Amino acid sequence: MTARTPVRPFRSRDWFANPERADMTALYLERFMNYGITPAELQSGRPIIGIAQSGSDLSPCNRIHVELATRVRDGIRDAGGIPMEFPLHPIFENCRRPTAALDRNLAYLGLVEILNGYPIDAVVLTTGCDKTTPSQLMAAATMDLPAIVLSGGPMLDGWHEGELVGSGTVIWRARRKLAAGEIDEAEFLAQACASAPSAGHCNSMGTASTMNSIAEGLGMSLPGCAMIPAPYRERGQIAYETGARAVEIAYEDLRPSCILTRQAFLNAMALTIAIGGSSNAQPHIVAMARHAGVEITPDDWRAVHDLPLLVNMQPAGRYLSERFHRAGGIPAVLTELLAVGRIDGNVSTITGRTLAENVAGRTATDREVIRPYADPLLPDAGFLVLKGNLFDFAIMKTSVISDAFRSRYLSRPGHEGVFEARAVVFDGSDDYHHRINDPALAIDENCILVIRGSGPIGWPGSAEVVNMQPPDALIRQGISSLPTLGDGRQSGTSDSPSILNASPESAAGGGLAWLRTGDMLRIDLNAGACNALVEPAEIARRLAEAPPPIPVSRTPWEEIYREKTGQLAEGAVLEMALKYRQVGDEVPRHNH
Ligand code: FES
Ligand code: MG
Repeated sequence: MTARTPVRPFRSRDWFANPERADMTALYLERFMNYGITPAELQSGRPIIGIAQSGSDLSPCNRIHVELATRVRDGIRDAGGIPMEFPLHPIFENCRRPTAALDRNLAYLGLVEILNGYPIDAVVLTTGCDKTTPSQLMAAATMDLPAIVLSGGPMLDGWHEGELVGSGTVIWRARRKLAAGEIDEAEFLAQACASAPSAGHCNSMGTASTMNSIAEGLGMSLPGCAMIPAPYRERGQIAYETGARAVEIAYEDLRPSCILTRQAFLNAMALTIAIGGSSNAQPHIVAMARHAGVEITPDDWRAVHDLPLLVNMQPAGRYLSERFHRAGGIPAVLTELLAVGRIDGNVSTITGRTLAENVAGRTATDREVIRPYADPLLPDAGFLVLKGNLFDFAIMKTSVISDAFRSRYLSRPGHEGVFEARAVVFDGSDDYHHRINDPALAIDENCILVIRGSGPIGWPGSAEVVNMQPPDALIRQGISSLPTLGDGRQSGTSDSPSILNASPESAAGGGLAWLRTGDMLRIDLNAGACNALVEPAEIARRLAEAPPPIPVSRTPWEEIYREKTGQLAEGAVLEMALKYRQVGDEVPRHNH
């Protein structure tokens, strides 16, 4: 390895080769020796590359990273760096109660402290399950140390009795079949297990695939990284290449602030729509952008609303990630968007080249899965932004609106896109599960199911509960979905066209707090309006009543989270954290 000079002196020098505090050098060096590393290595002037390890037995979607880290280390060593792997707070979307949303900001805080407090010059961010991607990118933005994303990759495609079964999506569909009496619980379990055939994160275009695609679209990973299935040989190969590149970005001082620009986020938003990405992309993109000092407004979402759906993947389409990868993956989608000028190819990326240079020549090889821009699966497939007297902001993912839903609610001649429905209001998901089949509620196809108490403060954390399914009796009549609305979120794997992420939430004084079962709602998708048809005097009267109940905090973090976290419209970030920028520019003072 030829001697190279870093653009900026490595911060690890301040620990291991600091002439002003030579008294500290021995203390900083000695304990690293106990796994065989030598003082000569740590004092060689080579960069120390952190591997932020998100995989563990508690994070099965990311567990592949425990093995991939071997190849990352190989890449780091071969490129002249010194790897140091460390654990992150685990995040597992499906299993974490009361919600993994609590973990995003906690893992963010943890990673900021690690990167700030230890001798790390650059870091490989190992991403996978939903919130593991935004939490690490948020921390990288706060620190502004050179950082590169390595996705763990999705599972192989799931098959059950000759049908593709996508993770998550199969759960929502099988639940409806269970309610209709079409399958039993054993069959439900068989379908769910078939959807998860290998190591990796969700193989549908749920939040995990969406966020890893966004990381690639932002330019924070090597091209093609997001969609390589976890078990493929290319996954180990790109782990090696990512480790090697991490050393180069340390020398080049290529930091997140060079890449996470407003234009990069606008590109990522366009990509989100073209891939049929998760509604969770909205708060996560806003959160990452705000930590990077970039403002994303509701109008920015409106500006990408007319983008078409190009990627034919569940839940909006048919296929799964393995086939999407073989069809060309994210580089091929970016090529489509670049060709029509819907993204800016001049942005900088982690390769040191522009986005356009990264994807040059990478076109789709399977038009069944990646459609040409001129012949999309759906036109105008973006998130609709709604507001009204119940909330200031909510979104609706239009790419999952089914033909049946469209014809029942959105196709009245002369009133296209406009419908009225009677609200049935639930206080959290326990209330929903207890009462949804209660005949006294008289739920019919003219109802909208509303859930509150499911936002960042109310839950706490904001839960994926808005995709409420209709009463069993209605499903048996063939009505498999009703309009839904809530101040929580829903799984990116859900095919429900809910109105969700409503902000401010009920628990923060939003209008859902005064909504009552029986109120009529008027939803005008053309105007982006959702209003309860309730007189102002009546609203005022209800506001004098006690607000809806929310559960008490059960852990210290839940209490801190509720105190410091903002609303989903603003990314549900720790608002006090935003003032900390470029923390990595200085090293903390010595500990003795
Ligand atoms: Fe972890 Fe879907 S549950 S990726
Ligand atoms: Mg989820």
